[in-house]
Amino acid sequence: MRVGILTGGGDCPGLNAVIRAVVRKGMLQYGDTFVGFKEGWRGVLDNDTMPLDEHTTRGILHLGGTILRTSRTNVRKIPGGLEKCIENIKANNLDALITIGGDDTQGVANALIEKGVPCVGVPKTIDNDLSGTDACFGFDTAVSIATEAVDRLHSTADAHDRVMVCEVMGRDAGWIAVTTGVAGGADVILVPEVEINMDEVVRLLQYRHDHGKEFSIVVVAEGAKLPASDKQATVGDKVDSFGHVRLSGIGAILADEIEKRTGYETRSVNLGHTQRGGTPTAFDRMLATRYGAAAIDLVHQKKFGRLVVLRGTEISDIPLADAIAKTRTVDPKLLELVKSLQPQKK
Ligand code: F6P
Repeated sequence: MRVGILTGGGDCPGLNAVIRAVVRKGMLQYGDTFVGFKEGWRGVLDNDTMPLDEHTTRGILHLGGTILRTSRTNVRKIPGGLEKCIENIKANNLDALITIGGDDTQGVANALIEKGVPCVGVPKTIDNDLSGTDACFGFDTAVSIATEAVDRLHSTADAHDRVMVCEVMGRDAGWIAVTTGVAGGADVILVPEVEINMDEVVRLLQYRHDHGKEFSIVVVAEGAKLPASDKQATVGDKVDSFGHVRLSGIGAILADEIEKRTGYETRSVNLGHTQRGGTPTAFDRMLATRYGAAAIDLVHQKKFGRLVVLRGTEISDIPLADAIAKTRTVDPKLLELVKSLQPQKK
């Protein structure tokens, strides 16, 4: 078969591992040939391609980013965009298209599936919030980087008797914040799923300071709502082609508020895109490779319109449309775990 591959949306450690697994298994087991579309749907729209074969996919397993590059191009917003994509998919004589991306990328794939384009999806987001799968590659890497950062913040916070607020990624769900916070031993963990109660934040910090510790660590997800508000901290109000505004700044706002209310010297750090860059962990390379191998199998089983997923420890697949229907928010049991490790109100 001749198969197209694209990577869309924000980059994510493990994308290259997926591409490599698809191409290697496809070539070695099925005799497939491949074409890579550059910069996600932008490459399909403009028929901007690159060869994907044993040479171009060699030595990429451990590399961050994506050899195909990526963009947030929403072809549904471009007049005639979907039709142009279909034309270019035909021009490349493709039997299938593998779309590696999150809900925005898979939303476009779903629109093409409805028009008869044979697509198979691979889920991708460091936020780990795609419904239908228990894990996305890239998340483990992001959490490892953020946890290392929190470990480092401990010693400088300790040396200066400061509160350090660490802002991590997570637009709509606090998976990175909760996992990093628990693994890094944060004193306060704040997520988009739970309203921020400043009195409670202050109580937790004061408890710690009253019980022999002069420093504290707060981990907050970028998408957590501002205290006493239903708004998120944003950079301007410009939105991208999928309607997302840039989130950033909740950490700095909280740091100011904490210092004001407690008198404790407070600093903030925003980890931002460092969480998305660089080499994937072994776990993410393994998961990405399993996803890639399963995606090319689905193509040969002609199970189009499906998304490969992880259920427990097993790779499976679901209708692609189900994955984009809703956000997978943090498991309430994890939020209970966080609470159980904190001092309770008398
Ligand atoms: O969805 C993944 C994510 O990393 C979010 O956590 C973050 O808000 C967003 O992408 C930032 O993406 P970019 O700066 O590339 O537009």
